[in-house]
Amino acid sequence: MHIQWIDLSDFRNFRTLSYSPASTLNVVTGPNAQGKTNLLEALSLLLVGRSFRAAKPVDLLRWDAEGATLRGQVCRGDITRPIRRSVARRQDGAWAVMGEGCPWARAIPFGWQDVAVVGGGPQGRRNFLDGFAGKIFPAHLPGLGRYRQILARRNSLLQAGIEGGPGEALIEPWDHQLAREGIELLHRRRRALAELADEVSRLYPVLAGGGAVRLAYQGALEEGVTEERFVEAIRARRRDEVRRGQTLVGPHRDDVAIEMGGRDMRSFGSRGQQRLMALVLRLAEAGPVERAVGSPPVLLLDDALSELDAEVQRNVLRHVEAAGQVFLTSAEGALPVRQAAWWEVRGGHVEDVSLQPVQGAA
Ligand SMILES: Nc1ncnc2c1ncn2[C@@H]1O[C@H](COP(=O)(O)OP(=O)(O)OP(=O)(O)O)[C@@H](O)[C@H]1O
Ligand SMILES: [Mg+2]
Repeated sequence: MHIQWIDLSDFRNFRTLSYSPASTLNVVTGPNAQGKTNLLEALSLLLVGRSFRAAKPVDLLRWDAEGATLRGQVCRGDITRPIRRSVARRQDGAWAVMGEGCPWARAIPFGWQDVAVVGGGPQGRRNFLDGFAGKIFPAHLPGLGRYRQILARRNSLLQAGIEGGPGEALIEPWDHQLAREGIELLHRRRRALAELADEVSRLYPVLAGGGAVRLAYQGALEEGVTEERFVEAIRARRRDEVRRGQTLVGPHRDDVAIEMGGRDMRSFGSRGQQRLMALVLRLAEAGPVERAVGSPPVLLLDDALSELDAEVQRNVLRHVEAAGQVFLTSAEGALPVRQAAWWEVRGGHVEDVSLQPVQGAA
């Protein structure tokens, strides 16, 4: 699928914008602080109804504006669909994103925040995996929401102190609910990771010029765990749980191991290796998402080439030149791209610079 055009008003530093990108690679250049990331954020809002930088709706409005609107059209094959979104005040006074999306519109964003998925703590890897599982399994995010509610109720019981007496009887049903919802979550996570791991182990060496990569799910519960086993594992930690007021077993404690050549990339990877791996994780989402939805997603790659050496940059460019509709921002005016539409963003305006000889030679 691809975006044919987008019209917007009062979004971030764009007063108004009418933009018709290419259906293939779009290189978005320009100096710092001109609106490149904002443009990608607008495309993300149009396609999936939210920003990829976890911004609150009110932050998306142009400063002092009363509301923002985005209209656009997406297309796959012969089918086109209009999309409208707005950032406006609800009746209760809170700012919200409104409007309807398109069921087959998907975007895969990459931004500097993603580097923490590889080099940061386990929470970032869990969020990444849940986000990906949500893109291919519609049941995943609702299930995750239910799991989190059960977890919160269970933790508040633990904090109230349940040891012995009637407290024990109170917590037991929660053990079973947590196990049932947790098993579903684990099952979808493992399936999602298996799909991703295949793509990553193929793609990383192509882009890096070598390197055997392995992704593995890490958790206290074995694959295919039953409800009884799950509950047993929780109960074995009951004393610790009561002491710490927290549920200590379950998918909310798990992690994803990322190894290269048998070494843990989370702690031993170089900055460039971690950055490339973070990008590869995002690029690897595209294939499974395409298989699940029936059309390729739009890639929104913000500053994806920085900190990569010239050879790796070239390999990444070769890959994204053939990856459907891609938006790639860069503060560099020249990149070794063979075929791309070039856009320059300055002060909230987007100009077509494809015909100007600014591109580097392929
Ligand atoms: N809500 C807003 N209203 C108006 N301007 C905003 C708003 N939010 C951010 N900006 C401004 O938009 C400008 C462009 O931001 P953006 O992050 O898109 O820059 P960029 O071109 O990606 O720069 P860089 O190359 O440094 O990544 C910034 O100067 C910022 O102050
Ligand atoms: Mg930026």
